[in-house]
Amino acid sequence: MKLPRHVAIIMDGNGRWAEARSLPRYRGHLAGQGAIREAVEGALDVGVEWLTLFAFSTENWRRPSSEIQALFDLFEAVLREETPELVEQGVRVHIIGEREGLPPSLLDAIEEAEAASRHQSRMRLVGALNYGGRREILRAAERLARSGEPVTEATFRRGFYLPEMPDPDLIIRTSGELRLSNFLLWQSAYSEIWVTDTLWPDFTKEEFVHAIRAYQTRRRRFGGVPQG
Ligand code: IPE
Ligand code: IPE
Ligand code: MG
Repeated sequence: MKLPRHVAIIMDGNGRWAEARSLPRYRGHLAGQGAIREAVEGALDVGVEWLTLFAFSTENWRRPSSEIQALFDLFEAVLREETPELVEQGVRVHIIGEREGLPPSLLDAIEEAEAASRHQSRMRLVGALNYGGRREILRAAERLARSGEPVTEATFRRGFYLPEMPDPDLIIRTSGELRLSNFLLWQSAYSEIWVTDTLWPDFTKEEFVHAIRAYQTRRRRFGGVPQG
């Protein structure tokens, strides 16, 4: 059965997870760290080459500053705590999105994680942080306009945050929302989408594998006619 080469996850539902327990929203974000581990383990077990996790969108700045601060503290802690094990497991870490506006200590943690893991090649783990699909497209358009290169899909992609990243074959979204929320807009043109009602902190490795099985029953046509 064909494996997705690139799985991307919209990690959603932390706030609702906390609300259901009468806890402050940030407690839901903290609880989400375990689910990140689960997703990485699932991806390594299955053998996907690329795993992208949507952690903070360019629109998430609309949240209260205390929640934003808690999220940035958490991203920094996750990067610092998880990188040694990720390196041991052969995982190379990348962060995509706008670096501008992120706190200096988080920027340091990002640079350290990317540098420490740069020789790893078993799997690529991409964190989308301060990421917006529209922003990435505008960035690529600006680069292409300045470069004077011919306008093609290939030259356009050179302006993406991580040009070598393949399009996601499968996009998973937790917490039941049926939208992309500005995630990988260009790259999702032919992605298969799988949505679960599970809230992100409750997401497990088993559910990741379940999503992969569901993907394997899909018939991707890319605008052509069904095969086989
Ligand atoms: C996802 O959980 C985390 C981020 C978007 C940063 P939410 O915080 O969006 O949780 P809900 O959607 O309010 O439940
Ligand atoms: C999408 O979740 C962004 C991330 C998972 C980082 P949101 O919770 O921000 O999306 P909306 O606002 O419900 O569309
Ligand atoms: Mg949400």
